[in-house]
Amino acid sequence: MNTDLALPDYREQTPEVAARFSRLVERPVALQVSHLTKKFETPRGIITALDDVSFSVHKRELLSVIGPSGCGKSTLVRILAGLESPTSGELRVYGEPVSGPGADRGMVFQGYTLFPWRTVKENVMFGPQMSGTPTYIADSEAREWIELVGLSKFENAYPHQLSGGMKQRVAIARALANQPRVLFMDEPFGALDAQTRCQMQSYLLEIWKNVDITIVFITHDLDEAVFLSDRILVLEANPGRVNEVVQVPVPRPRSSTQIFDPTFLGVRKHIDNLIHPPGQEQKEAPVLRHAISDPDVV
Ligand SMILES: Nc1ncnc2c1ncn2[C@@H]1O[C@H](COP(=O)(O)OP(=O)(O)OP(=O)(O)O)[C@@H](O)[C@H]1O
Ligand SMILES: [Mg+2]
Repeated sequence: MNTDLALPDYREQTPEVAARFSRLVERPVALQVSHLTKKFETPRGIITALDDVSFSVHKRELLSVIGPSGCGKSTLVRILAGLESPTSGELRVYGEPVSGPGADRGMVFQGYTLFPWRTVKENVMFGPQMSGTPTYIADSEAREWIELVGLSKFENAYPHQLSGGMKQRVAIARALANQPRVLFMDEPFGALDAQTRCQMQSYLLEIWKNVDITIVFITHDLDEAVFLSDRILVLEANPGRVNEVVQVPVPRPRSSTQIFDPTFLGVRKHIDNLIHPPGQEQKEAPVLRHAISDPDVV
């Protein structure tokens, strides 16, 4: 598909979209990231994974983070979740400085991280039980979260009896059961097949609509970022820096048919150009020594 054809400037917003973004930035700041830098000492020298990264995420915003491999996406989200400490910089959740993990932040990873010996409901109950919620309350709340992700029929199933998409829905329910104020998701659908991935994106938007939660979503996938997000933080690599924060003017509610709309294609193209600047494409394909010359294979 040639996306260069007559695409309008995606920044030419309709009044409705402009109003949506001005309402967004008037909301309280859920997450404030200020001058975050992370350096790793390695045998090959110091790697600056993140260099002076600053941005904010507003209450109930869905912000995606995208960028080339190695630009520091996972490092960023690990620091935000408190699993790693920054070399310098500050993180605030609703104005309060935070360091280390906390119940105010939840995390969903790409890999399946459920306890295999616990049922779906026992997995979802685990966090609240650990923080002292009485079992009968944790049980009834777990059922509500499981219903929200559409898995009521599977509450007594074990993880090995679920598909990959179902496991990730349980992982989302488990994270939400701790009632975090901000949810971080690091390529949560990266291991799923394309069709399941699209379904999961729609599920996530449905869940987000029904829960008071702010989401920071890490992805490699341009379509996924545009489909889900209010805004997209584009990082560049070596060192990991903020390239641009892009508004996504695609109207909500989102549907899969929008991926062919000029606005969707326009914002997608803009981000693609930021990540792969025109003129800097790989000039020549790598030569494989074992390739067999065949004029019909070009
Ligand atoms: N524990 C570590 N020790 C040393 N270097 C690290 C460590 N963790 C990450 N790095 C380096 O920091 C940089 C950013 O890594 P990170 O995993 O955050 O990138 P990423 O954007 O998530 O990549 P990908 O898209 O491939 O998942 C890379 O150069 C990586 O090699
Ligand atoms: Mg990563």
